[in-house]
Amino acid sequence: MARKRCCVSSFQSLSYIIFIFSIFSGILFLSWCHFSGQCYYTYQLLSPEKKPISNNNQPIINLLSYPFAWNHLTFSSELPPPRLLKIALFVKKWPQRSHAGGLERHALTLHLALARRGHELHIFTTSPSSLDSSLPKYELANLYFHISKPTPGGYLDQALVWEQFQAQNSTGRPFNVVHTESVGLRYTRSRYISNLAVSWHGIAYETIHSDIIQELLRSPQEPQAKALTERAMKVVDEVKFFPNYAHHVATSHHAGDILKRVYMIPEKRVHIILNGVDQHVFKPDISKAKEFKQRHNIPDSSKSLVIGLASRLVKDKGHPLMFEALKQIISENSTFQENIMVLVAGDGPWAARYRDLGPNIMVLGPLEQAELACFYNAIDIFLNPTLRAQGLDHTSLEAMLSGKPVMATRLASIVGSVIVNKEMGYTFSPTVTLLKKAIYEVCDDGREVLEKKGQVALQRGLKLFTATKMVAAYERLFLCLSDRNDGNHLCQYQPPSN
Ligand SMILES: *[C@@H]1O[C@H](CO)[C@@H](O)[C@H](O)[C@H]1NC(C)=O
Ligand SMILES: *[C@@H]1O[C@H](CO)[C@@H](O)[C@H](O)[C@H]1NC(C)=O
Repeated sequence: MARKRCCVSSFQSLSYIIFIFSIFSGILFLSWCHFSGQCYYTYQLLSPEKKPISNNNQPIINLLSYPFAWNHLTFSSELPPPRLLKIALFVKKWPQRSHAGGLERHALTLHLALARRGHELHIFTTSPSSLDSSLPKYELANLYFHISKPTPGGYLDQALVWEQFQAQNSTGRPFNVVHTESVGLRYTRSRYISNLAVSWHGIAYETIHSDIIQELLRSPQEPQAKALTERAMKVVDEVKFFPNYAHHVATSHHAGDILKRVYMIPEKRVHIILNGVDQHVFKPDISKAKEFKQRHNIPDSSKSLVIGLASRLVKDKGHPLMFEALKQIISENSTFQENIMVLVAGDGPWAARYRDLGPNIMVLGPLEQAELACFYNAIDIFLNPTLRAQGLDHTSLEAMLSGKPVMATRLASIVGSVIVNKEMGYTFSPTVTLLKKAIYEVCDDGREVLEKKGQVALQRGLKLFTATKMVAAYERLFLCLSDRNDGNHLCQYQPPSN
């Protein structure tokens, strides 16, 4: 009897201990998950059918694994940033003039805007070449340039910029985040930095499509380009060294997909932020269209359609193809001469050839940004025959924000991010026959249809391609990357109620 009681009581005390222990570990776990910010996943595990819910009944988004373009999200750009950051930027060349290439324009638009929002910007770049003047002056006390002499190949001298960077990083206020435009900072150094993002404006895999097109368009007299055979090895190279960058920004949906799928970079390290252009400069303005036509002696006939082209007039931008298509149309169709006006902005080897085509092809030369904004207003459709598949072309975005439909080559970045359906424009495969067909289609559609498509293009532009949207998305990414140990709340996004 006594023995039995003894056993009962030790059984009772054992369960008592287990009971106390489980309560204690429960409290321990909950406080751990609370303070480490892991509760989300815990709550999700406990009730898998329920997603984390924000104040307004919309599921909270974890930004680092958001699979779509951040431009779709709304970050309040009217409010000051929740924290001011010290940001390092590595860019091979800082643009001096407005018609800089895509990468440089992206660097300029984004980082000037971030400095204007109050962030401290340190720009590591090469000294201007002797032909150009000095770097432009900006009235921003929080914008610092760290200049170094370029290598013979024109790149940033990695040892030098790394020294400059380290000096700035060890002043007691280290950088919160590091941004490199393409391989400005090479992987040999980037791999030491965890709070880093690289923006890609063209990766070798995308370029393969351009190489194929160029090879198909090559005339028998031209020698075969080596690019095509070398490019595949370049892709393999990139697949190997890209993982040395902590976070990747793709400027198009297509590049995002390639980075994840072909380059095998974990999804949480690939973020899509589409390029944006200044919507205060590029916007619909009827009076600007009239003035522009007067300034350039363009007949303001209500019956003829105006097709606009704007780029450097070189092979890469599709001008041999465009030239041939126009030449054939002009020779086979007499009504085209009366009904169509083609305005060509830019300079390059093809300028003289276009001039010889006839009076309704006008070559305007290169235009400064303000004049380019008027140009978009003066045309009925923007035609972008580019063969370069890299990055996201700025000119198409500018035309859309000016309320114009766009016709462009069927490249993955364009059909995936810009002209996603027929409502906002036209796409064509890069052969003379198909380009001609697309131009005839535009003529047959006429102005009314083009205006409708222009409105759809404008709405899409305002939703996705404004500089404000791009800057807000990058600011949030940088805040998130610099805040990883602080409960990660800036990496979470609460959709606004509507
Ligand atoms: C920058 O400085 C911080 C603080 O001293 C340090 O933790 C970090 O490793 C430095 N970054 C690099 C890339 O050296
Ligand atoms: C000539 O061009 C007009 C558009 O300007 C088009 O409607 C017409 O079908 C074309 N004619 C031929 C023979 O291609």
